[in-house]
Amino acid sequence: VKPETDFVSEINRLRKEKNAVILAHYYQFPEIQDIADFVGDSLGLAQQAAGTDADIIVFAGVHFMAETAKVLSPEKKVLLPDLKAGCSLADSCTPEEFGAFVKQHPDHIVVTYVNCSAEIKALSDIVCTSSNAVKIINSIPKDQPIIFAPDINLGKYLIKETGRDMLLWSGACMVHEAFSIDKLLAAHKKHPNAKIIAHPESESHILKVATFIGSTAKLIEYAKNDPAEEFIVATEAGILHQMSKEIPNKKIIAAPAYEENKCACSECGYMKMNTLQKLYLCMKYEQPEIILPDGIREKALRPIERMLELS
Ligand code: 13P
Ligand code: SF4
Repeated sequence: VKPETDFVSEINRLRKEKNAVILAHYYQFPEIQDIADFVGDSLGLAQQAAGTDADIIVFAGVHFMAETAKVLSPEKKVLLPDLKAGCSLADSCTPEEFGAFVKQHPDHIVVTYVNCSAEIKALSDIVCTSSNAVKIINSIPKDQPIIFAPDINLGKYLIKETGRDMLLWSGACMVHEAFSIDKLLAAHKKHPNAKIIAHPESESHILKVATFIGSTAKLIEYAKNDPAEEFIVATEAGILHQMSKEIPNKKIIAAPAYEENKCACSECGYMKMNTLQKLYLCMKYEQPEIILPDGIREKALRPIERMLELS
């Protein structure tokens, strides 16, 4: 890359020339969110990927999100600026172990959170995201036993919200598990008028003190429409960019993480692997590209489609 390369104008040129659409998650760096055609939560991004008429989908997010886009739009080229942009939650659930677990419970319906690989989705009956999980669980007949994977924290939250007894996988998001309840309460003491809002991937003790729990898009919407002037937000810190853009007059505070934890700033190292330079390079060379393992796309499609139909 020439040192004088203007990534923003090059990305804009390539997007037009190649009829590409750039989809970005709220946890991406601000400059990536700002150049994207659409910024959203996992559900919004999947819906965009399913409906776009672009030839190339450039996914500024993590691997499982780009895979979901490829499952929904197999005829399109799906690019991910860095193939190593994974997810601790998705990594906690391997097809071998999960396949054996599902086999042990043949009478259970399998609901998987979208943060998992396409192989895991292929073993599922229905997929959900944090914005539609309650609705999806409630759509399942009351006497039907359920397996929920891979997020144990979201699973516990759903058990509480729906009153359903579910078999849970024990995966977790390293970013949401890093929040410190002591520091959060101390921050609240310092800002007593602030409302605590949290993502359901957070642990129960964090969710217990939250006024509102929701997906990234729902957290933004809540902070926008609620009359409170201050919010402490327990999710990945990238969301602060969009929140301060949409509600510049309100005070937004990032929930603090444990000091000893590497993500003391509540940032997802995987999400932050994508940079403007990598975005430019992947659009220029049309790689790295998402290629799905044989036969997986067909099996993963139906559970994702069922989710979209119910959303
Ligand atoms: P949502 O944006 O769907 O709330 O998901 C959050 C997340 O952790 C994505 O990795
Ligand atoms: Fe995965 Fe957590 Fe990063 Fe989201 S924030 S991609 S759930 S590790």
